[in-house]
Amino acid sequence: MSAEDQKKAAAEEAVKHINAGNKVGLGTGSTANYFIAALARRAKEGLDVTCVPTSQASRTLAESLGLKMSSLDETPYLDITVDGADEFDSKFRLIKGGGGAMHREKLVASSSQFVVVIADQSKQVKTLGKFPLPVEVSRFGVKATAWKMERAFAYLGLSAKMAVRVRDGKPFITESGNPIIDCSLGSIPDPEKVEGYLNNIPGVIETGLFIGICGIIYVAGPKGVTELKRA
Ligand code: 5RP
Repeated sequence: MSAEDQKKAAAEEAVKHINAGNKVGLGTGSTANYFIAALARRAKEGLDVTCVPTSQASRTLAESLGLKMSSLDETPYLDITVDGADEFDSKFRLIKGGGGAMHREKLVASSSQFVVVIADQSKQVKTLGKFPLPVEVSRFGVKATAWKMERAFAYLGLSAKMAVRVRDGKPFITESGNPIIDCSLGSIPDPEKVEGYLNNIPGVIETGLFIGICGIIYVAGPKGVTELKRA
């Protein structure tokens, strides 16, 4: 199976969790897009679902495929969210935000009774941190927030290379209107501690660490899909 086929296969497993009447959070990214397509196929077959997207891109795709859409304001309690990840470890801790949508992704996921992650096996790691940790920060005082983050990392014994995310030569701005600082840490041995310290810094809006949120991961490899269930 190619990497794309692996993502698709993981999405096909996740869609089996969706039942009639479910309110479904839609993740963002190439893997989540396969789930949106699989869900739209089941909706065409008659499954009645209401979807809350985590980005404009996911909304546009879902709408174009005929899915019934809502928003987190209209539908604040969701049954299930299905999303991709940039990294996950054996304790179901994730790094997300490669696509810059982690603030809305975390809001939607944490409003869901159940969260399923779908990924190809390249995302499975022993220790989080090879993928740069995205941190969404307030537009006001970006340098001051970055300095506080750097001090927190140093206190935790982590040396970080930090860079404000740029796209097409300009600072990348999320759909919530904020920049992202990507933090290359190499290894994050204690993600809970990092999450706690970062969340205490004024100016930090959201980190890409998702801890205690995901219940099932469908990880796809060349030979098929494996279901990982959190105890
Ligand atoms: C977007 C995300 C994505 O889920 C993550 O980047 C994975 O994307 P892909 O499925 O395209 O590899 O967190 O903010």
